Amino acid sequence: MKRRKILKLSSGAVIALPACSGGKKDEGAEAAKKKGSATASGQGSAESQVKLGANTQYRQPAYVNKGLRNPTLNLPSQFNGATVSHSRGLSGQPYVAMTFDDGPHPRNTPRLLDILRTRNIKATFYVIGQNVDRYPEIVRRIVAEGHEIGNHTYTHRKLTSLGDSAVRTEMKRTEEAIVRAAGVKPRTMRPPYGALLQRQRSLIFSEFSYPTILWSVDPRDWQRPGPSVVASRIIGKAHKGAIILAHDLHAPTVDAMPRTFDGLLSNGYQFITVSQLLAQKAQV
Ligand code: NI
Repeated sequence: MKRRKILKLSSGAVIALPACSGGKKDEGAEAAKKKGSATASGQGSAESQVKLGANTQYRQPAYVNKGLRNPTLNLPSQFNGATVSHSRGLSGQPYVAMTFDDGPHPRNTPRLLDILRTRNIKATFYVIGQNVDRYPEIVRRIVAEGHEIGNHTYTHRKLTSLGDSAVRTEMKRTEEAIVRAAGVKPRTMRPPYGALLQRQRSLIFSEFSYPTILWSVDPRDWQRPGPSVVASRIIGKAHKGAIILAHDLHAPTVDAMPRTFDGLLSNGYQFITVSQLLAQKAQV
């Protein structure tokens, strides 16, 4: 019991100190005194867990300030114009956006993240809400490593067969799951199967501020044609401003990615996220 009390007082002092004021400092001093007496009465192990000073052990992770991060992507706060749907960027630069749908997957997504990290490539993940709730730690890793998260509905149903309130629920539940898991809000959505009525696109855009993101390059990786076919289809069809569709749900797709990324890089392409690609349009 005593040990718990000390920890509580000490952490209170740490939080209170920068904000103000004589009273709080006294509390800190009192905590320090108690800490001293705890040591004297032989509770050294409790003291070793208490840190009142600056945390000098902290080091910035390597990804900080190296490339753009979600959600602070250095983007204009709004996308250019009020275009509701996009299947490519209009950038004249050799930028492409790799997008990965239907995750997070407990094995394939972390493996893909490793592949992306070794090449310092940023991608966009259109996650399914119920998978987010199942694997929130993977969503946190996606965001921590500088990738963008998009909304791909909660249950992956075909939205064209749903009424407005069900569509809203699909969007909202997923957004809430992503915020719960990683503390960021998605900026865009992708409908399962690419199926979304124009009226539904407008509804989602006005109520959630999500542009609908489709794609311009589809290797049909979900048919599992084999990693080398997936890689050569993507490399062969890539173009400036391409939005490339793939699925981190499938192991052979992830197997195809080292070859795909290296091929695109050697053809001079650079990788940015979907929001970054849309912002490029605003700068042209
Ligand atoms: Ni999907």
